[in-house]
Amino acid sequence: MFRLDHRVGVVTGGARGIGKAISKVLAKQGALVVVADMRFELAEQTAFEINASGGVALATYVDVTDIESVKKMAQKVREIYGPIDILVNNVGWDKMMLFSETDPDFWSKVIDINYRSVLNCVYVFMNDMIQKKRGRIVSIGSDAAKVGSSGESVYSGAKGAIISFSKTMARELARYNITVNVVCPGPTETPLVEEIKGENELGQKILGSIEKFIPLGRIGRPEDVAYAVAFLVSDEAEYITGQVLSVNGGLTMC
Ligand SMILES: NC(=O)c1ccc[n+]([C@@H]2O[C@H](COP(=O)([O-])OP(=O)(O)OC[C@H]3O[C@@H](n4cnc5c(N)ncnc54)[C@H](O)[C@@H]3O)[C@@H](O)[C@H]2O)c1
Repeated sequence: MFRLDHRVGVVTGGARGIGKAISKVLAKQGALVVVADMRFELAEQTAFEINASGGVALATYVDVTDIESVKKMAQKVREIYGPIDILVNNVGWDKMMLFSETDPDFWSKVIDINYRSVLNCVYVFMNDMIQKKRGRIVSIGSDAAKVGSSGESVYSGAKGAIISFSKTMARELARYNITVNVVCPGPTETPLVEEIKGENELGQKILGSIEKFIPLGRIGRPEDVAYAVAFLVSDEAEYITGQVLSVNGGLTMC
């Protein structure tokens, strides 16, 4: 696979699920990985596992919905590793409900975690990459943004916003040799999915039966997404920007 030696990469939400797999795969390819998460103890555990298996990782607390927290985290990362090369905006969250059952406080929470978080991190970290005249930004979207997903109205919209924002940033940052892409997982086995299934009947009904509609015959694994991200942040992907790649076993083909 493609090497990432000497590259510094920040993975938000790197403590568990897809973010943990991304952190591990980037570290395995040689990157110095910052596992940035609000679940600090879990982030430390992930970093410990990476360091124990011969990689290099640092755990740090961040709340990506709060730009001051992102700035503080960035400051710490720069002091230790210098300016970063790779930003993976992986944090995301949802609770399945019909739109009629949601309320404006819920909209704000979903928009802040899924979309504002990406604005905060790109805003704070893009100058590192501009300074280096090189960089990679990958945000984790969702197939829900491309084809819709019952019970995920506000989340789908927020993930759609990530796609539009990323295409614009791909244009604005191309002159600095910075690529900006989006990876959209389909249903993937993670703690979040287990929580959603356990929360209510709608989550259980939709996620519990989706496997039979996946052409490749299984739910995604976090590593499936991580390998796609590892490619997009590599030197070999230097000519790919503004793109949206689904990793979903063929569930959607668009
Ligand atoms: N699992 C799926 O089926 C699936 C499908 C499509 C898209 N996605 C997307 O993939 C990404 C990862 O999802 P996952 O299933 O691994 O989720 P997860 O909940 O298992 O992991 C998310 C991580 O983000 C962290 N986090 C949440 N809010 C944070 C905040 N404000 N600041 C810092 N850290 C925060 C959590 O502590 C957790 O470690 C998300 O963007 C999600 O929307 C997941």
